[in-house]
Amino acid sequence: MVVLSLVLPAAAAVPVMSNRLDRSLAALPGVAPTPPMGWNSWNSYRCNIDSQKVRQAADALVATGMREVGYRYVVVDDCWFAPQRAKDGALQGDPVRFPEGMKALADYVHQRGLRFGLYESPGQRTCAQLHGRYPGRTGSAGHERRDAQTFRDWGVDYLKYDWCATDSDLGHQLAAFLRMRDALRATGAHFVYSINPNSGITDAGVPATVVGSRYDWSGVATMWRTTNDVDSVWTYAPRQGRKMGIRDTVEVAVPQVVRSGPDHWVDLDMLEVGVHQDRQRPGLTAAEEHTQFGLWAMFAAPLIAGNVLPTMSRVTRDVLTNSDVIAVDQDPLVASAVSVSVARGLVWRRAMADGSLVVALWNRSEDSARLECDLATLGLAPGRYAVRDLWTGAATVADHTIAVDAVPHDTILLRVRPAG
Ligand code: GLA
Repeated sequence: MVVLSLVLPAAAAVPVMSNRLDRSLAALPGVAPTPPMGWNSWNSYRCNIDSQKVRQAADALVATGMREVGYRYVVVDDCWFAPQRAKDGALQGDPVRFPEGMKALADYVHQRGLRFGLYESPGQRTCAQLHGRYPGRTGSAGHERRDAQTFRDWGVDYLKYDWCATDSDLGHQLAAFLRMRDALRATGAHFVYSINPNSGITDAGVPATVVGSRYDWSGVATMWRTTNDVDSVWTYAPRQGRKMGIRDTVEVAVPQVVRSGPDHWVDLDMLEVGVHQDRQRPGLTAAEEHTQFGLWAMFAAPLIAGNVLPTMSRVTRDVLTNSDVIAVDQDPLVASAVSVSVARGLVWRRAMADGSLVVALWNRSEDSARLECDLATLGLAPGRYAVRDLWTGAATVADHTIAVDAVPHDTILLRVRPAG
């Protein structure tokens, strides 16, 4: 057992350049006072998505209790559309896989007390089309007004708008993302506008962070991605192009999360909890699932599940429906998580609206470790504190030091308040 003793200098927020792209307006106000939560088809189904799978996911959100703990959006990612637009230029659902049309599917989702989302791209082609995985050129370039109107007519509540072009010029990106933002706004309907300025850019020699992570898109979108797609693996270290595991995403994206707030959230990408991508990416360990879900919550990131909901295991369901952890994600104060371990980057604290503190202790090493942190380092006055482990529910009292044992890659989340 390795003992990491975290007796550290005074707490400091991670400095981040402002780089805010448009200060004139909140992107689309009032749609997401707390980080959006939902389910998206991509991580499990890729282009093999159809109406029945989406309906099953919507039903499962209700049956498993996920809707009750906050999951609202059912988002159909790439490949939902027919490869050609209709004669009048409108987008249309793929007639084979979505025979009833997208409006009927949106109605089905709405009838279950959920909201409906779709994917599009600002260029000529969606990501699957760019990579030759799906036929056609049905991106929204030049069709923004019409497409926004179509989405409104169908009852779409959430648009995932994914760059997916090899050109990463900031001026082009900004103009394209603003065009769709303004088109959505002009419909008069409420949309969560979820953008990804990172995808499609070639891997060769490009760092993991391209355009998106360098800028604050809060005047443009409700939420924005900061990295390339996260996979259901722990890490690709040493770095392989722009591939991202859970650990890589945390390391790259966490400095950005101070930019999050109501209606503008840094998106750490979708959840890999319960996802089994393929043989090379078979899935996360239980500890790694705690780390993805727990740190996403710690950093107030959108929680978008990506697993096959109707057949998920009890373990997966317990992680995804842990209402104590979800409450951290959704806390209305939206205080920034503060690193108390500048040297090792293992511990964060975050103030909650009710005056309590949440502490995340991340064992990113390859050994089981005792993680220790004294109360003064957490900014707490001398005294006795009630400490509750948000994964196990175990309650203890601390009067000098907080100490936990963590298996490799695990994250322990503790809620700390003065002992009564
Ligand atoms: C990009 C995005 C993914 C997904 C796919 C769809 O890779 O980053 O989240 O939407 O496109 O093709």
